[in-house]
Amino acid sequence: MSEQKLSGEVFYPSKEVIEKANAKCRHLYESAEKDFLGFWETEANELHWFKKWDNVLDDSKKPLYKWFTKGMTNIAYNCLDVHLNNARRNKLAFIWEGERGEFRSYSYFALHRETNKFANVLRSLGVKKGDRVTIYMGRVPELAIAMLACARIGAIHSVVYGGFSVEALHERLEDSQSKVLIVADGAYQRGKIVELKKIADEALQRAATVESVLVVKRTGHEIVMQPGRDMWYHELMHLPIAHSDDSVEKMDAEDPLFLLYTSGTTGKPKAIMHTHGGYMVGTYTTLKYVFDIHEQDRYWCAADPGWITGHSYIVYGPLLNGATSFMYEGAPTHPYPNRWWQMIEKYGINILYTAPTAIRGLMKFGEAWPNRHNLSSLRLLGSVGEPINPEAWRWYHKVIGNEKCPIMDTWWQTETGSFMITPLPCTPLKPGSGTKPFPGIKADVVNEEGKSVKPNEEGYLVIKTPWPSMLRTIWNDPERYVKQYWNRFPGMYMTGDSAKKDEDGYFWIIGRVDDVIKVSGYRLGTAEIESALVSHPSVAEAAAIGLPHEIKGNAIYAYVILRTGYEKSEKLIEELRLHVGHEVGPIAKPEKIEIVESLPKTRSGKIMRRVLKAKALGQDPGNLSTLEE
Ligand code: PRX
Repeated sequence: MSEQKLSGEVFYPSKEVIEKANAKCRHLYESAEKDFLGFWETEANELHWFKKWDNVLDDSKKPLYKWFTKGMTNIAYNCLDVHLNNARRNKLAFIWEGERGEFRSYSYFALHRETNKFANVLRSLGVKKGDRVTIYMGRVPELAIAMLACARIGAIHSVVYGGFSVEALHERLEDSQSKVLIVADGAYQRGKIVELKKIADEALQRAATVESVLVVKRTGHEIVMQPGRDMWYHELMHLPIAHSDDSVEKMDAEDPLFLLYTSGTTGKPKAIMHTHGGYMVGTYTTLKYVFDIHEQDRYWCAADPGWITGHSYIVYGPLLNGATSFMYEGAPTHPYPNRWWQMIEKYGINILYTAPTAIRGLMKFGEAWPNRHNLSSLRLLGSVGEPINPEAWRWYHKVIGNEKCPIMDTWWQTETGSFMITPLPCTPLKPGSGTKPFPGIKADVVNEEGKSVKPNEEGYLVIKTPWPSMLRTIWNDPERYVKQYWNRFPGMYMTGDSAKKDEDGYFWIIGRVDDVIKVSGYRLGTAEIESALVSHPSVAEAAAIGLPHEIKGNAIYAYVILRTGYEKSEKLIEELRLHVGHEVGPIAKPEKIEIVESLPKTRSGKIMRRVLKAKALGQDPGNLSTLEE
């Protein structure tokens, strides 16, 4: 690819990077182009199946695609058991550092043992194949152990991000009808304790299906344990029952593996469902080629396991590849802005995968902090979650990567399960572009009629053929799955993003076209924030929008109409911000709340958020013909 003449600012990977890469670029793209099912089948054959599939893809009931039909496997078996009889047995699977500097590590042997013990604990509590288990913790190894233990026995995990709060957790427990909640007593965040168990207790008051609550001791602060419902993880793990069995549930490739709630255009967050077979093949293949995992590498994905990035690229992808993965509990700038650089030096990290918001946040403190550390172990860098602005890209490339580490700007979604548009280590890079679709993925930018647009024209980003790690449905709402993703452009998966493709075929993501706001890379729906606001007694109506923010990418601005009898005051505004924090989580707290007399609406009563946005930015609001007043 490197002989290609490309337009604009281009960074060519070095010969060493290209030669070392697992991905032999031209060959990989060409073989996937010729036969995309054959491409995925070759990859699937590298994993363990108790029984091989009949068909790689069943597309007889579009868009209800099935992959590796009648194949039998188990993703947790492929993450752990397969490594026990080879040189990886004693290799480190996880290295973990706590915010307060504690250190723990797990070999593949140890991680298998702990997972198996916890799988038995879950079994002893009556958890069976297909049951839902919610997990609510900070970034600790027990979170991965809990996920893997669920997968091992065929239970469906639903991880709720530890930064979410009472109402968000309650909704997810209810919607998934979880039988068990696994929670930590607390989590450390910038030196303070987030009281996870206390939040859970409040959420549990209204969650009728939860029979048992298993509590991981992380902070050790005082919590209330409800007799008959709450049990300590460490106590259960010491019981003989934990050693009773080491069997693995043989799963159909299409059996659900997990639910992960994410924000959509309307209403409550929806549970995206992924499966054992296809998701396994997608995460395994993409990580191997994009982050170029080699046996001796130490890889660090700095995301939270509570989000898809953590599911796919802290837990499943790395373990499927037999990698050594580093996990850090805390914030990048605590206690000082060199925390990450210190750990890269200390643990000899080779690959760092993070989000533009973190890069911008660290950039703010200047070069002196990273320059104090030896970062020469780094070989590859990664970015995810939102478009990376070229300035942050260049800083990351120069200051952190010493101009020798290619940046893998990976575009994908909770729904896609794994990378969709991304460079490979051998791809010439343009700052701010995710470059090209991964081999086997057919992406395009189309207009209102679903026709490909011309180079550099903005349009809707779509995916034109199915891929193994695609979501299979929305839990409890299969109709919405079809309506939301497949009805807009028949036969194409609608991503919800707008994008452009340049004259070299490079994709440039512009942003969401729906009412989803990306705050520090986290996905929030305007509907969630608005319903949190109107649940406060003083609020009659509310509208939330995202406005550009230097570090966070977007910040939330909310407009509120008060009920009669309430007076506008700074105190009330602060109370409303805290209320959103309590209901949804601190990340959803609006940056600013403005009390207004009315909101711009269409004649059918829909709030015109684009008008609010244009007004806040001092821009022309465009066509106002549908505005009511
Ligand atoms: O708008 C895109 C943005 O994040 C959305 C998906 O969010 P979520 O499901 O939370 O998953 C985030 C992590 C995979 C997309 O629709 N997005 C994600 N990665 C990028 C991005 N936008 C631009 N460039 C990226 N690399």
